[in-house]
Amino acid sequence: MSEVYLNGELMPLEEARISVMDRGFLFGDGVYEVIPVYGGRLFRLAQHMQRLDNSLHSIRMENPLQPEDWEKIFKRLTGATPDIEQLVYLQVTRGVDWARNHLFPRGSKATVFVMAWIAKPKDPDIAKKGVAGVVLEDNRWNRCDIKATSLLGNVLLRQEAQDAGATEAILIRDGLVTEGSSTNPFIIQDGEILTPPSSNLLLPGVTRDLVLELARGSDMPCAERQITRDELETADEIWICSSSREVQPVTRLDGKPVGDGVPGTLFRRIDTLFQDYKASLS
Ligand SMILES: Cc1ncc(COP(=O)(O)O)c(C=O)c1O
Repeated sequence: MSEVYLNGELMPLEEARISVMDRGFLFGDGVYEVIPVYGGRLFRLAQHMQRLDNSLHSIRMENPLQPEDWEKIFKRLTGATPDIEQLVYLQVTRGVDWARNHLFPRGSKATVFVMAWIAKPKDPDIAKKGVAGVVLEDNRWNRCDIKATSLLGNVLLRQEAQDAGATEAILIRDGLVTEGSSTNPFIIQDGEILTPPSSNLLLPGVTRDLVLELARGSDMPCAERQITRDELETADEIWICSSSREVQPVTRLDGKPVGDGVPGTLFRRIDTLFQDYKASLS
C-alpha cells in the first residue's frame, strides 16, 4: 500500500478521504502538477513550483505550503525507491464549502494532496518506431495556460484519439496548432524546430521549455511561432513531449506517414540530448 500526503498527514492511499463537498470534487476547482523523479531527484522542480504558483495565482489562491515543505513531502513519498523513475502528483483545491455555491467560499482551507508512483518503464519501441497522432479541433476553454484539474475537455479529446487508434490528439484552434491533449508538440520544417508560442491557449510545458533550451544550447535552429494545420500535415518530423512521456516522435498523423514514417534524425539528436541531460542530473 503506497503512502500519500493529504492535508498535513501521511497515510496509506486506500485510507485517504476528502469530503464530497470539496470544490475540487464539485467544480474541478483546483490545480495540479506532475513532476518526474530521476535517480531520486526531482526533475526541473523549480520550474514546476513556479508553474504551480502561476496556476494558483490565476485561480486567485495562495500557495498553501512553503517550497521547503513541498520538497519535504516529495522526498518523503519518493525516498523509499530512489533508484527507480517515479512521478509525483500534487493537487491543490479551494477546499470544502458546506453550501454548493459557485462563488468562492470565505475562509475555506485548501485541500492539498500528494502521491508518487513508479513510472512505467519507457517502451524502447517508441523511440524506434514512433507513435500515432490524430488532428482534432481544440474545443477547450481559453485558459489552457492554467494547469487546472478540470480536465474534461482534455479527457474527451484524448479518448477520441485513443478510439481512433492514436496515442495523442494534436489540437487545432482557428487553423493553428495549440498543443496536445496532454503534451506540447513540435514540428520540424526544413531543419528548423518549431513550436507554438506560449499563450493562454496552451500549457507552458516544462518539458517543452527544456527541449527548446537543449536545442538552443546545441545550436539547433528553433523558433516559437504559430504553426498552421497545413504545416503540421506536411512537417518532416513531429514530436510530442511531456513530463511523463519525455520526447516522443509522431510517425503517423491521421493514418498517414509523417516524413519517411520513421523517427527523424533531429528526433534522435534531441532525444540523446534529453537522455544525457537526465543522466547528468541523476
Ligand atoms: C495539456 C497539456 N499540455 C502540455 C503538457 C506537458 O507539460 P509538462 O511538460 O510540463 O509535463 C501537459 C502535461 O500534462 C498537459 O496536460
